[in-house]
Amino acid sequence: MNPTSTSAWSVLSSQTQEMQATHMRDMFEKDPSRAQRLCTKACGIYLDYSKNRLTDAVLDQLVKLAEETGVPAHARKMFAGEKINNTEKRAVLHTALRNMGDTPVMVGGQNVIPEVREVRERTYLFARRVRSGEWRGFTGQAITDVVNIGIGGSDLGPLMIVEALKPLADGPRLHFVSNVDSLHLNQTLKDLDPERTLFIVASKTFTTIETLTNARSARAWLLNAAKGDKAAIARHFVAVSTNAEKVSEFGIDLENMFGFWDWVGGRYSLWSSIGLPIAVAIGPEGFNDLLAGAYDMDLHFQNAPIRENLPYLLALLGIWYNNFLGASSHVVAPYNQTLHRLPAFLQQLDMESNGKSVRAEGEPVHYATGPVIWGEPGTNGQHAFFQLLHQGTSLIPVDFILALKQPGQMEPHRTSQIANCLAQASALMQGKTQAEVQTEMRAKGVAEDQIAALLTHREFKGNRPSNMMLLDDLSPRTLGALIALYEHKVFVQGAIWGLNSFDQWGVELGKQLATGIEQRLGAEDGGQAYDASTEALINYVRTAKP
Ligand code: F6P
Repeated sequence: MNPTSTSAWSVLSSQTQEMQATHMRDMFEKDPSRAQRLCTKACGIYLDYSKNRLTDAVLDQLVKLAEETGVPAHARKMFAGEKINNTEKRAVLHTALRNMGDTPVMVGGQNVIPEVREVRERTYLFARRVRSGEWRGFTGQAITDVVNIGIGGSDLGPLMIVEALKPLADGPRLHFVSNVDSLHLNQTLKDLDPERTLFIVASKTFTTIETLTNARSARAWLLNAAKGDKAAIARHFVAVSTNAEKVSEFGIDLENMFGFWDWVGGRYSLWSSIGLPIAVAIGPEGFNDLLAGAYDMDLHFQNAPIRENLPYLLALLGIWYNNFLGASSHVVAPYNQTLHRLPAFLQQLDMESNGKSVRAEGEPVHYATGPVIWGEPGTNGQHAFFQLLHQGTSLIPVDFILALKQPGQMEPHRTSQIANCLAQASALMQGKTQAEVQTEMRAKGVAEDQIAALLTHREFKGNRPSNMMLLDDLSPRTLGALIALYEHKVFVQGAIWGLNSFDQWGVELGKQLATGIEQRLGAEDGGQAYDASTEALINYVRTAKP
């Protein structure tokens, strides 16, 4: 169902003008219970969505939009293993990876849950052996450092979670190498001991050039220390992939391979063996809690009424700004420093899923789809881009995320962290009128001409929307729920826009061109010709000595 042909869409369009002209300050004034009404809690996450530019009437229509575009039915198809990734003819079953229930999940006539659990137990066993020191390197040393080599979904999720849960980490040190720029690998390896370093080569396809290039150089680094003894590889390299043939070709023993399935998308794969570095860092029990939190959110998403359903609420609010109020980007501002890689993770999750301009069946869209996702931890963002959020010309909704409890927090830092987060959301919504500026400056005895000169500079229009998510804690379980919340938000938006959120054809062309340009840069002459700009750049680079 094309969203623009729903009755909800036309009503929302008619409501847009009125909402453009309404200030949230006035909505709070008219309805003193607004703050209490427009909030809900699930899975350890309290969502206050009252600082949004919407009325109950708008929210009713947004709920109707989800119903008219068949989102609940599409969600049931996903959980049931139907091939909703239609262009790759695959099921989308990252939810099966954390399914703690007994309902079978069928793919190709087979219940996949037993195999999911069997593979997970193998990764847990391995993680325990590494953490306990039972797993030894080629000189009999225990492992002190684990280097995950992967990129995109084989990096961002595990990295984000290992960073987020660092206060709980009690295993070997984790390092993540992703960029093909050799400085990423070399800066990581320069302080490590090859005899005590284990590499996890994580790649769903095991064909990604950055990962293979880094893995080959890491292997050379190890073999150099092992004086060429190839037997050392088995002690220091394991692989996570769906492609056993390519893993074996690389020279990793399949005994040391942890598999997963093509019905797990890369950006949704942290719940699979791709999450091995997480289990090494915080232990299998911690990883299991992460899965359990995501499962909590899966049940909430499937069962809660849309009006109290966190993924639906975030998704529908995003559609309201993206498709009706003219916002084209969205900020994620975590106020816990250890969540510093959350925006980057959500960039791939959201923008690689919904950064598309054709519907699942191939016809072009004629409405906006996936927004630009960006952000940095608060309070740092307040000293970088919050100026634009407060006084810029763009409407940019903000998700504030703050875990109230985390090991290692202390005063007065914690109170300041919370105060800043709440203050920013309030300032964005409330603003500061010219009259308030005048009163404030007069109270400080500022001369009238000075006040007049600064009045418009110091005015805050306000009416800038945000969601406030307060997490009970930053535990694996709550973090798992938060990640699943965003996965399902992306799902709901993609379903309303009628997209296939689970393929990523847009990443192919760049990779394809890079292969040919790499050859041109290496060879003397001949080879594929490129556009004039690229030809000129190739010539320029070839003359610049390395
Ligand atoms: O960015 C393109 C992409 O295919 C992602 O979807 C994926 O997570 C990443 O590259 C890495 O792919 P692989 O895990 O197969 O190396």
